[in-house]
Amino acid sequence: MTGSDAGVWAPRLPLTTPRLILRAHRLTDLDDLAVFHRDERTTRYLPWPVRSRDDTRTALLKKLSQDRAPAEGDWLVLAIEERASGRVIGEVDLRRGPVGHADIGYVVRRDREGQGMASEAVREILRLAEEDLGVTTVDAHIEPGNTASERFAERHGFIRHPDGDALAAETPTRAFRWVVAARDSAR
Ligand SMILES: CC(C)(COP(=O)(O)OP(=O)(O)OC[C@H]1O[C@@H](n2cnc3c(N)ncnc32)[C@H](O)[C@@H]1OP(=O)(O)O)[C@@H](O)C(=O)NCCC(=O)NCCS
Repeated sequence: MTGSDAGVWAPRLPLTTPRLILRAHRLTDLDDLAVFHRDERTTRYLPWPVRSRDDTRTALLKKLSQDRAPAEGDWLVLAIEERASGRVIGEVDLRRGPVGHADIGYVVRRDREGQGMASEAVREILRLAEEDLGVTTVDAHIEPGNTASERFAERHGFIRHPDGDALAAETPTRAFRWVVAARDSAR
């Protein structure tokens, strides 16, 4: 497994794309995170509350060590840094599932939507998942009404899971699934 210890998701960071750096969070990211963690529209469909600055700091403290995912159920949480500004404009996440499986999460701050930034970050983390982490199936759990995320997932080759909501019966989400074999058509 390139870029990760056997059995531990510990990718070599940062990952770079033309406009972005995907990296571990830093304590100094607080001002940047506060911008989108307090935004009601951005967090509306996320499994996060709208956060005060203090609550964002608490959330950030947890993210600091989530640049590796040692065990099933752990999240790999990467800050999306915009190269042009040096600001953290969002995050992209992978939750480690059973062997070969992961769940994905993604968010960009409101004024960076519609610029393809989220797409750039998600393409890169899917590449990492496939090439370095041995992931063959990725699920995106999307709340009903989050049509922007549904369209986004479909653009990246996710398809509605045949088991649909049964994948996450405890939460009112829809499951989309991406499989490695389907990825070429999404590029
Ligand atoms: C879901 C979310 C990440 C999608 O972000 P986005 O900016 O719309 O996604 P993209 O990066 O793919 O941008 C696509 C748009 O940018 C445009 N674009 C501009 N320049 C581009 C470029 N260089 N490359 C690709 N797309 C580009 C595309 O044409 C497209 O426009 P369209 O939506 O009108 O078709 C964003 O809405 C978000 O953060 N939502 C809140 C958090 C959330 O709900 N997350 C999902 C939880 S399941």
